Amino acid sequence: MTQADALFQPVELDKLSLKNRIVMAPMTRTYSPGNVPNDKVVEYYRRRAEGGVGLIITEGTCVDHIAAHGYPNVPNIHGDDALAGWKKVVDAVHEAGGKIAPQLWHVGAIRRPGVTPGGDTPGYSPSGMAVPGKVVGHAMTQTDIDDVVAAFARAAADAQAIGFDAVEIHGAHGYLIDQFFWDGTNQRDDTYNGDLAARSRFALEIVRAVRAAVGPEFPIIFRYSQWKQQNYAARLCETPEELGAFLQPLAEAGVDIFHCSTRRFWEPEFEGSDLNLAGWTRKLTGKAAITVGSVGLNADFLPDDGTKGFRAAETASIDNLLERVARDEFDLVAVGRALIANPDWANQVAAGQFDSLAAYEKKMLETLY
Ligand code: FNR
Repeated sequence: MTQADALFQPVELDKLSLKNRIVMAPMTRTYSPGNVPNDKVVEYYRRRAEGGVGLIITEGTCVDHIAAHGYPNVPNIHGDDALAGWKKVVDAVHEAGGKIAPQLWHVGAIRRPGVTPGGDTPGYSPSGMAVPGKVVGHAMTQTDIDDVVAAFARAAADAQAIGFDAVEIHGAHGYLIDQFFWDGTNQRDDTYNGDLAARSRFALEIVRAVRAAVGPEFPIIFRYSQWKQQNYAARLCETPEELGAFLQPLAEAGVDIFHCSTRRFWEPEFEGSDLNLAGWTRKLTGKAAITVGSVGLNADFLPDDGTKGFRAAETASIDNLLERVARDEFDLVAVGRALIANPDWANQVAAGQFDSLAAYEKKMLETLY
């Protein structure tokens, strides 16, 4: 028995059984030339499954839309070649006893012309803005919106068909769906704008379309964040009441699991309670919640000082995490950089081998291991 045992008991969620509570956080790695995951990508994910991760959420995978991509060599989740590549990943993870969900992604106005695929296509977003007030791309028409909703639904159906165990919709970090949520970047004068409920319309259409495509029993995870890469201080909800009003419609539309993206999991979300964002989400919706942010590390992944790259960090105690798990604050725990540094992070932690865990260094992103 180790102090970390609570993390390593099997979990039965509504539609998903997992061998433990450890989730690999979605991390873009840009190692898929031609937007097709190759055998190196297969081995990368196999290593994490063999290393004890219960549920892998893949790097963001782009849905079938001309402007979905924002970075080079990001894998697609459409087309025969990319789906065949993903099928190999899925099979490898299953052989190693893990489960896996693709993260479905459209970057919105973060895109700049020139990224492949898409060529000269500008970023598509609610009002053409990546940051408030500055138009850099194309304001989506109703046809564009309908196309993107349909692309998410097709991606989910394809993912299900090739054996993925769930899908995650990327609604966080200031990308397309979040550009609709955020009043700073959603300045439309139609029914996709208004209060947060109205700004959720696009996300709700996506969740409903995905649910219709995958049927009632397939798990849908929805990742959201208060913070935006464009503004770490941005918030969608200032009170638990606002958060409940935001999340409940998403739950009713078909979300089974909320992935609550924070940079530091130990921070209380609202004054007057220790609960973090995942804790509040679970309490307010009754749905399963994933926490994330600096698990096992002493610094969060995005520097506030404008320096580039995902911040290096030393290993740190997980005692605070274990206390929260013991209190049943959330269901699952996503681990990002610590799993890049240690493919077998889960097995090492399960064995109590904290001293042999490696710190995360920026240069680790220069290879796919
Ligand atoms: C990320 N993150 C991220 N998030 C997401 O939703 N989709 C993505 O594709 C990526 N890509 C990505 C790449 C890299 C290299 C890093 C380090 C991070 C954020 C990630 O999922 C997670 O929320 C953060 O890394 C915080 O967790 P850790 O690293 O502090 O455990």
